[in-house]
Amino acid sequence: MPAQEFLQRVARRMDRIDRKSLEGYVLELANEAQFLKHLLDQIPEGIVVLTFNQEVIFVNRRGIQLFNVQEPLAGKETLEKLIPDAPLVALVSDALKEKRELFQKEFEILLPRPMSLRLNLFYERKQKPPVAILTVASMTQSEMNMRERFKLENWETMLGLAAGIAHEIGNPLNSLTIHLKLLAKILQKLPAQERKNIHNSIKIMEDETARLDRIVRNFLGATRRKPVRFELTQLNDLLLKTISFLKPELKKAKIRVLEELDKHMPVFLLDPERIQQVFLNIIKNAIHAMPHGGTLKIQTEAGEKLCAIHFMDTGVGIASDKISRIFDAYYTTKEEGSGLGLMIVYQIIREHGGRIEVSSKPKGGTTFSIILPIRKEKLGLPQPVMEQTS
Ligand SMILES: Nc1ncnc2c1ncn2[C@@H]1O[C@H](COP(=O)(O)OP(=O)(O)OP(=O)(O)O)[C@@H](O)[C@H]1O
Ligand SMILES: [Mg+2]
Repeated sequence: MPAQEFLQRVARRMDRIDRKSLEGYVLELANEAQFLKHLLDQIPEGIVVLTFNQEVIFVNRRGIQLFNVQEPLAGKETLEKLIPDAPLVALVSDALKEKRELFQKEFEILLPRPMSLRLNLFYERKQKPPVAILTVASMTQSEMNMRERFKLENWETMLGLAAGIAHEIGNPLNSLTIHLKLLAKILQKLPAQERKNIHNSIKIMEDETARLDRIVRNFLGATRRKPVRFELTQLNDLLLKTISFLKPELKKAKIRVLEELDKHMPVFLLDPERIQQVFLNIIKNAIHAMPHGGTLKIQTEAGEKLCAIHFMDTGVGIASDKISRIFDAYYTTKEEGSGLGLMIVYQIIREHGGRIEVSSKPKGGTTFSIILPIRKEKLGLPQPVMEQTS
């Protein structure tokens, strides 16, 4: 008989039940509750029961393991206390506020360790008070490796293909440029009026081939990469080195750089060449965003497992409807831009198992924040990336 029905029956007959039988019923119920809890602890998914006010009222053993909660939860806890990854708390809390369900939602967290989770959130409204149930499954390492490898291999294959095409375009482009020069010479010998007409067309063709040449060169320059090499590196020093390298450019653009570097930044594993490329691309963008000068504040923060690097400029900002496009290949608002800088930044941060966030106000400046996991042992390295040929 369901526990609720059983309890209702007992409650109705309470005055007629003797103390001994009552004790028996209570014990039976306690055993049943124990048994159910034991069952829930055997389930390979984390289960979290929440009130609509975001109080956690139950977590099974797997949930405690997944979020690495030290102490057994004492009574009602907040969601933040249970889940250490702030973006995941925001996702669940937003869904709860809107009473929105989540179905097989895939989500990557960095804390307590980098994991890919599959989440479901649904509501039990018959319960008084109504509750929300969150189930959390960690995608197995092999499933994750497969996905990550597939993504990276896909990316590397696409890049290889595109680089091959770009390379091939180079030869006919050269020949076109040479023939255009020859044509221009032949043109000198023609009568003035005829020369004028053809001259305009040739000028357009010259400009267009020069533009194609620039696109190909930029693409090859941005994508020709060595295999990833992780080394124990002091991130603050790498940052200072990059700033000092860009000093003349920053000075010319009348940009003041304010550095606030966390003294407790540990040495950890990263690919210094690639991370320097990230810093260069972001700082160059900031320079372009402040054509009349301004301030670029660069801040680092070291935590136990993660570190953050913030770049805050006082530049032109990015309109909210454009912000989702800035990491796309070839998205640029600059005449001379290739639109590849931030795409490369994004890829490098992903290869390091980190993430990049951006917030911006048009005319109020832009902040790029990079969050990187602090990896010290070789064990924590991401999958090696295939060498790219071009
Ligand atoms: N700090 C910033 N402030 C304002 N807009 C920015 C900033 N950083 C990037 N953007 C916008 O994002 C676009 C894409 O940047 P991205 O670095 O990918 O390409 P790009 O700078 O245009 O060209 P390049 O490939 O030469 O770097 C820029 O054209 C610009 O519109
Ligand atoms: Mg750029």
